[in-house]
Amino acid sequence: MRGRKALVRFGVAALAVGIVIALAGCSSGATTKGTTGGTAKKLKIALLLPETKTARYETQDRPLFEKKVKALDPNIEILYSNANQDAAQQQSQADAALTNGANVLVLDPVDSASAASIVAKAAAKKVPVISYDRLILKANVDYYVSFDNEKVGVLQGQALLDKLTADGKAGKAVVFINGSPTDNNATLFKKGAHSILDGKVTIGAEYDTPDWSPDQAQTEMDQAITKLGKDGFVGVLAANDGTGGGAIAAMKGAGIDPKTRPVTGQDAELAGIQRILLGDQYMTIYKAIKLEAEATAELAVALAQGKPVPSTMSLTKVNNGTKDVDSILLKPVAVTKDTIKSTVVADGFWKTSDILNTPELKAAGAAVGLQ
Ligand code: BGC
Repeated sequence: MRGRKALVRFGVAALAVGIVIALAGCSSGATTKGTTGGTAKKLKIALLLPETKTARYETQDRPLFEKKVKALDPNIEILYSNANQDAAQQQSQADAALTNGANVLVLDPVDSASAASIVAKAAAKKVPVISYDRLILKANVDYYVSFDNEKVGVLQGQALLDKLTADGKAGKAVVFINGSPTDNNATLFKKGAHSILDGKVTIGAEYDTPDWSPDQAQTEMDQAITKLGKDGFVGVLAANDGTGGGAIAAMKGAGIDPKTRPVTGQDAELAGIQRILLGDQYMTIYKAIKLEAEATAELAVALAQGKPVPSTMSLTKVNNGTKDVDSILLKPVAVTKDTIKSTVVADGFWKTSDILNTPELKAAGAAVGLQ
């Protein structure tokens, strides 16, 4: 498998190997392949994603998941919805999916806490729930598939600290632009970053960004610049490429050259990779979404069909406040200008031709061996 080879190449292996669990007891009552007038009942999997402002969901997660489900079982129907960062809308979308006879919910929650009520409704209908990318807290979730999210924050913090140290700027003020306070991942990214940077830099200003909105991040950075002054900070710990892009736009608007202030990111979004090549953003985190989406698809199809978890799948445990959830945690990878080629390009996440779409980018790419 291409994905597996890529994994080995970067050491992006599923983390702890543990218990491989036969799912016998966990299959949904709704998966009965009952016949109505001789016709087999169509199995349905609901994919509920949280937002559209971050590029990954519509351009990576959704198509990769749908493709894998179709490859495994062309007869399965996928009920797709995107909540546009609105937790109440996600509740209605989940209700609709359950009413429409979904046999499995794959849920990436807008709000990690309030999504527990969706899990309760699904459980009442014996429909299993896979917590996708973000952990649903205090709920009887069946599975969790994600990355080591605290490690994401550690990698961001370490890359920023190393860069500031190399430039003789450690100890000075850094602006923290964290993610959405309702996303458990944002809590973990923040925790990881603070574990590296606390005591090594000064925290000049810090914000949680409602809805992970890049516009909000820009406003927060405007406020930080007003508070600290144009020369009052040396770098920005931004939780993802969207918020990093907002922070960079604010700096440019204030007449600050972002090349002089390292900014972190996450998702290896095309715009983020291009900013890194041009020097406006310092780093991003590459998460092999293909592996995440495909593992989830395999799990969801097995659950829908009432089959055991594929024996090749190794699970670890993550506690969500209610139980130790059987989980797959993949490994995030830090990317800077010099490693774009050996990570996102080598793994087929982006083609060189996608990245180098202006003369300026072509020149910047050539300087790091990308052409
Ligand atoms: C995801 C990130 C994403 C962010 C904003 C997080 O839960 O892990 O990849 O950038 O949400 O949607």
